[in-house]
Amino acid sequence: MPNVNRRFLLRERPAGRIDDRTFELVEEAVPEIGDGEALVRTRWISLDPTNRTWIGEIPTYLPPVAIGEVMRAGGLGEVVASNSPNYRVGQLVWGLTGWQDYLVASASAPMMAVPEIADVSPSLYLGALGMTGLTAYVGIFDIGRPKPGETVVVSAAAGAVGSVAGQLAKIEGARVVGIAGGAKKCALLTDELGFDAAVDYKAADWREQLKAATADGIDVDFENVGAEIMEAVFSRLNVRARVALCGLISGYNDDAAAVSAGPRNFGHLLVQRVHLEGFIVLDHFGRAGEIVPQLAGWIAEGKLKAQETVVEGFEQLPVAINMLFDGENTGKLVVKL
Ligand SMILES: NC(=O)c1ccc[n+]([C@@H]2O[C@H](COP(=O)([O-])OP(=O)(O)OC[C@H]3O[C@@H](n4cnc5c(N)ncnc54)[C@H](OP(=O)(O)O)[C@@H]3O)[C@@H](O)[C@H]2O)c1
Repeated sequence: MPNVNRRFLLRERPAGRIDDRTFELVEEAVPEIGDGEALVRTRWISLDPTNRTWIGEIPTYLPPVAIGEVMRAGGLGEVVASNSPNYRVGQLVWGLTGWQDYLVASASAPMMAVPEIADVSPSLYLGALGMTGLTAYVGIFDIGRPKPGETVVVSAAAGAVGSVAGQLAKIEGARVVGIAGGAKKCALLTDELGFDAAVDYKAADWREQLKAATADGIDVDFENVGAEIMEAVFSRLNVRARVALCGLISGYNDDAAAVSAGPRNFGHLLVQRVHLEGFIVLDHFGRAGEIVPQLAGWIAEGKLKAQETVVEGFEQLPVAINMLFDGENTGKLVVKL
């Protein structure tokens, strides 16, 4: 077992994009464990757009990561030593691992056992069978509630949450339109993931594409992006449409925009009697036991295809996170240690 614990600490709050001044790599001793504690070796780290919001000045649904603190992140780890009946050596556990090789699990910092399903990569518990799948499920089934034949639009559709959300809406019998950057991602949506149409928002004619793909208007918006894309979708919402406000990634590298940017056509929501609901997946965590088996069932039946982009190497973390903002990932972005 290595005797060094590599950790990325937050050194400086970024004024825009994360860069090489944002984090500092330190090497510390592997922590000792006491009674009732277990030592966990991190194996996979989840990279999420919200990680960027956690290192800004402005508190979100969690307090900002403090300067000098290890970067917060969800991850999967393996129990490598245990003085607790709750953790078995060799067991795979999930929780807030942070950007570090080792951490201590205890009653005050618990990690959850990960169900082991044959033929499933552990990384899926960070994606379609983890927070990503839960987020897509809540947005589609609790808020969007598409009826068969209705038109659902999903932005950042080739990403982690979007790719699952669109496929769940298809399972419900909706007509699904995905918005993504580039012809390759659009082809993935229609040719492999069963979306009915795709809009390439990087093409000059994207507004016309959206109009053509939603000729009967839009009944459900699964909103991941915000700004101009959200406004264009809002303009096409039908009477009694639903908006599952999941994320606003286009503003995350600008702390002020992330909390304050609103749609210029807000009044359209009133005229169309739209139901808009923001949601945070952490509030629904207690339902994982009921929802994850359903998602696993759809994966086993081939109705849900889990997409992921795997980056290898702990040291890649500070660079890999910007892949989310540059559209370099397809499906869930994870780092394998
Ligand atoms: N509410 C919750 O509890 C919750 C939970 C998880 C995630 N989320 C939100 O869901 C959204 C998607 O998250 P994810 O984890 O699934 O990440 P993701 O979609 O896998 O990755 C981000 C994707 O967003 C697109 N993107 C980045 N910047 C953009 C911009 N300026 N304009 C348009 N598209 C842009 C890129 O795809 P293209 O190549 O298509 O540009 C990129 O691949 C985020 O807004 C996130 O904050 C919310």
